[in-house]
Amino acid sequence: MRIAVLKEQAAGETRAAASPETVKKFIALGATMAVEEGAGASASITDSAYREAGAEVVPAHQAVAGADIVLGVQAPDVAELAGAKPGAWVAAMFDPFGQRERVDAYARAGFEALAMEFMPRITRAQSMDVLSSQSNLAGYKAVLAAADQYGRAFPMMMTAAGTVSAAKCFVMGVGVAGLQAIATARRLGAQVSATDVRSATKEQIQSLGAKPIFVESVAGIEGEGSGGYATEMSEEYQQAQAELVSSHIAKQDIVITTALIPGRAAPRLISDAQIATMKPGSVIFDLAVAQGGNVEGSVPDQVVEKHGVFIMGYANTPAHLAADTSALYARNLFNFLSAFWDKEAGKPVLDEEIGDAVRLTRGGEVVSERLRG
Ligand code: NAI
Repeated sequence: MRIAVLKEQAAGETRAAASPETVKKFIALGATMAVEEGAGASASITDSAYREAGAEVVPAHQAVAGADIVLGVQAPDVAELAGAKPGAWVAAMFDPFGQRERVDAYARAGFEALAMEFMPRITRAQSMDVLSSQSNLAGYKAVLAAADQYGRAFPMMMTAAGTVSAAKCFVMGVGVAGLQAIATARRLGAQVSATDVRSATKEQIQSLGAKPIFVESVAGIEGEGSGGYATEMSEEYQQAQAELVSSHIAKQDIVITTALIPGRAAPRLISDAQIATMKPGSVIFDLAVAQGGNVEGSVPDQVVEKHGVFIMGYANTPAHLAADTSALYARNLFNFLSAFWDKEAGKPVLDEEIGDAVRLTRGGEVVSERLRG
C-alpha cells in the first residue's frame, strides 16, 4: 500500500495533506509513504521532518508512481496523477458542485475520488470531518483579521486618559466557524451577539455568553434540513430577517458572516443599504466570500471600503493558519482511512454509509447520488 502526498498546486493553497505525525501513523499501519519535495514548506513542515517520520521525499512523478492512494487538500488535476495505480483512490476536497468537470475527468481516468467535504455529519465521523476542523480555525482567524483592520480596541479599557469602550461584534451564521468566532471575540473582550436560521443555535449562543438575535413569529423558522445543515428560507422569513438585521447592524462595530447552504451560493445577508447605516470604521469579515459572499460588495482577498465601512474576506481562510489547519486536516484523513483499515487486506475497505457518501467516482462512472440527483 503506497500512499502519496503531493504539493498543492492551487493558487494560495498553503496547507499540506499529511503531517510528520500522520506519516508515522500510516507507516505503523503498514503503508509506504511518499511525499513530494516541498509539500509541507508553506505549512512550516520541512522535507527532513517528513523524512525523519519515515517518508520517502521525492519529486512529484516518483511520489505518485505506483500509488494506491493519493492524499490532497484540494484535489489534484488528473494530469498530476499519471503513474498512479489504475483505480487509485484520491482523498481530498473536490469542491464537487463547483468543479464538476474535474469529477468527470476522474471518472474518465478510472480513479476513485473521495470527497472529504461530503463526510456525513454523524457522530462516528466527527474526527474525520474536514469542514469542521477547517471552519473552526477559520472562525478564529476571521475575528483576528477583523480586529487587526479595526481602528479601535476590542476590550473596554479604563485608562488615565479616559475610557475606551468595548467593541460590539455580531456573528451571522452560528455553525462551527460562527461558534469559534463568538468564542474568540468574547476572549478579546467584545460585546457579542449572534444569529442563525437554525433555532437550535440559540442555546449555544447563550452558553458562550453572547446575545441571540432571532426572527420570531414567522412560520417555519426551524431552518434545519438534513444532516444539521441549514435550508433555504421562505421569502417571509428573509424579509423579517432583513428588518431585524437592519436595526441591529447599525449599532455594530464588527460583523462576521459565516452563512452557507451546501451546494448553493451563499445566502446574501447584508445589502449595501444596510452597510450605509453602519458607523465609519466598522469592519465586516465575510467568511463566505469565496462561495459568492454573504455581503454585497465583498471581494476575495481585498479590503473594500464602502460608506466608510471596511468589507473584507479571504479566498481561503484556513490557508492563513496553515500549520494548524494542516495538522488537523492530516489527522482527519488519517482518522478516516485508519478507521477502515483491513489488517488482512493491508488497505482500507470503506463501509457503505461513509463510502457511499464520500465516493464521487468509481469504475469509470460518477457514482455520487448528490451529484447524480
Ligand atoms: P455551514 O458552514 O454549512 O453554515 C454556517 C452556518 O450558517 C450554519 O449554522 C447555518 O445554519 C447558517 N446559515 C445558513 N443560512 C443562513 C442565513 N440565511 N442566516 C443566518 N445563518 C444562516 O454549517 P456548519 O458549520 O458546517 O455546521 C452545520 C451543522 O452541522 C451544525 O448544526 C453543526 O453543529 C453540525 N455539525 C455536525 C457534525 C457531526 O456530527 N459530525 C460535525 C460538524 C458540524
